[in-house]
Amino acid sequence: MSVTILGIESSCDDTSAAVIRDEVLLSNVIASQAIHEAYGGVVPELASRAHQQNIIPVVAEAIKRAGIHKNELDAIAFTRGPGLLGSLLVGSSFTKGLALSLDVPMIEVNHLQAHVMAHFIKENPEEKNQPAFPFLCLLVSGGNSQIIKVSAPDRMEVIGQTIDDAAGEAFDKCAKVMGLGYPGGPIVDKLADQGNPKAFVFSKPHIAGYDYSFSGLKTSFLYTLRDHLKDDPDFIEKNKADLCASLQTTIIDILMEKLRKAAKDMQIKEIALAGGVSANSGLRKAFSEHAERYGWNIFIPKFAFTTDNAAMVAISGYYKYQKKEFCPIDAIPFSRVVI
Ligand code: KG4
Repeated sequence: MSVTILGIESSCDDTSAAVIRDEVLLSNVIASQAIHEAYGGVVPELASRAHQQNIIPVVAEAIKRAGIHKNELDAIAFTRGPGLLGSLLVGSSFTKGLALSLDVPMIEVNHLQAHVMAHFIKENPEEKNQPAFPFLCLLVSGGNSQIIKVSAPDRMEVIGQTIDDAAGEAFDKCAKVMGLGYPGGPIVDKLADQGNPKAFVFSKPHIAGYDYSFSGLKTSFLYTLRDHLKDDPDFIEKNKADLCASLQTTIIDILMEKLRKAAKDMQIKEIALAGGVSANSGLRKAFSEHAERYGWNIFIPKFAFTTDNAAMVAISGYYKYQKKEFCPIDAIPFSRVVI
């Protein structure tokens, strides 16, 4: 019997709804919130209000594009956390209302695990390119940088994570001090393409195990700008591309070094990438080079599934539905990282 799941994502500044039937994506609607650009970062209060405005039209559109009637839904999966509490409350409260009215169960989904599960979304029933268990997933976003060992859809272990800033934060904060727009990651990526990655050397952390740190790099980047700006006020403008290329290369080197170590120690060659930073062209290239050099079998998500989206929530919900892992109506969202 086929299973149809509605997924709802509202953890940060994207309101998204998606419908999945038996692993196959029928629709995925995302309303992004441009309002935050003016502030150089997500303003939580504004994000919750925008979710409140967007949620009904976004869900209605997802159901319409899927070509189904809402009575065909078997369950509703929603992001319970981590994320901004006000944003999560909109998605979870809406889910409760709709689940009660349709008399279907609710399924809670961890946002970080959903990013990993994005690799199992099928856009057509024949699609087969999915990682085999166990695999390692490098999850890199604006809020997290983790290496996760995935032994099954419901067995994920964080083996390494950032002890301070996330990789996306490093991109965004360094872009901000250069006066580039927000979010800085994609802008740095574009400019890096024309720059020399060896033009500047920034410090790299020395941390044991598989953990990451990006705060030292941020400071080193700031000091480089400060020192050069003393002699040349136009230093940033003249060296933008080289600064971006050198910064991007350093971030990628830091990420790949620990991932390589984990893959070698655990003898795992199935390696996946997830999260917003996985859109980075340099990181994608580094993955391909590692695949060739170390015989890795790599999995890089489609651009549409790298940033926050409800398709990844729906597929996570689909796997939980098989095990009848439903959540009670009084479940409340959580803001902090739990995996
Ligand atoms: O997963 P995500 O959409 O959401 C949050 O964690 O909030 O990740 C957003 C992050 C931002 O830091 C953004 O700058 C970064 O992903 N990002 C990129 C690129 N595209 C998005 N970083 C580097 N290169 C990119 N092309």
